[in-house]
Amino acid sequence: MIGTTHLRHMLEICLILMDRGYNVTLIAPGNYTAQSVSYRSIPQIIFENKHLGLLNKSSEFNKAYFDDDHGKVYSVCRKAAVQSYVSFYNIYKQIAEEINVDLFFCDYLMNYPCFDLAWKLGKPAVESSSDHNFLPNPPYISDPIYDCHVNMENESFYNRFKCAIIVPLKDAWSVRDYIKNINAQRALVGVDPHWDIRGRVSTILKLSNNFFGFDIPRADTPLHQEIGPVLPDIFPGLTPDLDSFLATHPRTLYFALGTNVFIPPQSVINLLKSFLELIKQDIIDGVIWSTLRTDVSESFQLANSSSQISNILNNEYPHIHYEGIEDENGRFKINNENLLRDWITPDSRMGFIRGNYLDVYAVAILLFLALSGGFGYALWKIARYSYIKFRSRYKNYSKDLKHKRE
Ligand SMILES: *[C@@H]1O[C@H](CO)[C@@H](O)[C@H](O)[C@H]1NC(C)=O
Ligand SMILES: *[C@@H]1O[C@H](CO)[C@@H](O)[C@H](O)[C@H]1NC(C)=O
Ligand SMILES: *[C@@H]1O[C@H](CO)[C@@H](O)[C@H](O)[C@H]1NC(C)=O
Ligand SMILES: *[C@@H]1O[C@H](CO)[C@@H](O)[C@H](O)[C@H]1NC(C)=O
Ligand SMILES: *[C@@H]1O[C@H](CO)[C@@H](O)[C@H](O)[C@H]1NC(C)=O
Repeated sequence: MIGTTHLRHMLEICLILMDRGYNVTLIAPGNYTAQSVSYRSIPQIIFENKHLGLLNKSSEFNKAYFDDDHGKVYSVCRKAAVQSYVSFYNIYKQIAEEINVDLFFCDYLMNYPCFDLAWKLGKPAVESSSDHNFLPNPPYISDPIYDCHVNMENESFYNRFKCAIIVPLKDAWSVRDYIKNINAQRALVGVDPHWDIRGRVSTILKLSNNFFGFDIPRADTPLHQEIGPVLPDIFPGLTPDLDSFLATHPRTLYFALGTNVFIPPQSVINLLKSFLELIKQDIIDGVIWSTLRTDVSESFQLANSSSQISNILNNEYPHIHYEGIEDENGRFKINNENLLRDWITPDSRMGFIRGNYLDVYAVAILLFLALSGGFGYALWKIARYSYIKFRSRYKNYSKDLKHKRE
């Protein structure tokens, strides 16, 4: 199992399984469980992972990441996935045989060997993720990586066409070589080829640890289960420093980048400026900046004590959770359009044609027919022209031949 920022909810599940008497082993690069207060009891097999050097500060990956060069980010990750496939597969295989694994929990990210091995050994596998990236998107959900909005509900026809037809076609084209290369690695360890970019996951159980309302609602397959938020039963206590800060700053913004992201100084300055602006506008009254790898002190705090007073007086924007009103008889009524907002998919508001993308698909099909029709017509013309040319030449040639014989 690999995955660094993806680890916590899996370890929580592991603790529960261990409580019930199962033997659990974490296989991951990085020394995680031994150094953790909460997960010390989970045995871990640590392996060297030179291929994840791509996540270091001076790496190609980081440069591409900060240049916003998504194509490059993907190509670096894909290269690493190809290069690490065989060694990961062999490590997982050796351990699986040593400890006689009955069930694989595999993090979804760049982890084809885990799913392939479970498939090869005929063992069940469960896919684990902290987001929905591993699910195929319905057309009304897209990806900002491709300059598309996440929620396409109110987008123009042009954008909906681009994000539902052009982008996936371009993407499919660009991943061909990648999947071919992965399949070449699979062949080296005797695993059959597989053409799904997500790996051998379409028929297995998928768990995602998330908060309802974080993602755009979508119609879902029963194979996918939202299990979030998975939170530990107990947390380590706050330091006195943080404790008093939070007590005096009820609207604190918490900022963290996860385990593997570095940000350049200019971005740090820009972020700080926007935090100060938020404090100035009285939207928040404090910031906790939690860093693992940024070159600033571990955690520093900002506050504007004069705006703190106004926010206590001005608590006018409470979280909206339960939208109810009383009718004239004093009976409580809710707005059904809104009550389960976090579960209502946007297509239900987009109307039948836009919601089902019938307009986009109809134009795509017409374009395809027009293009292939035009192409077919041109081909037929060329064939006919060549045939006539050929025939006349052949006639002349036969005439010449006749002349010569005569
Ligand atoms: C767990 O491991 C121990 C020691 O290897 C073994 O005796 C026990 O049967 C295992 N338990 C299960 C449920 O597999
Ligand atoms: C992992 O961390 C623990 C606790 O700090 C330490 O005892 C152990 O030697 C480390 N293991 C490796 C392989 O670095
Ligand atoms: C960082 O990664 C690059 C490859 O992407 C590697 O050449 C370099 O040695 C790594 N540096 C460190 C400090 O690990
Ligand atoms: C789209 O517009 C509707 C109506 O104005 C609004 O209720 C909805 O929140 C909008 N959706 C998005 C994603 O902006
Ligand atoms: C703190 O708040 C005061 C008054 O609202 C404002 O003038 C000042 O610029 C703020 N300081 C910072 C650091 O935002």
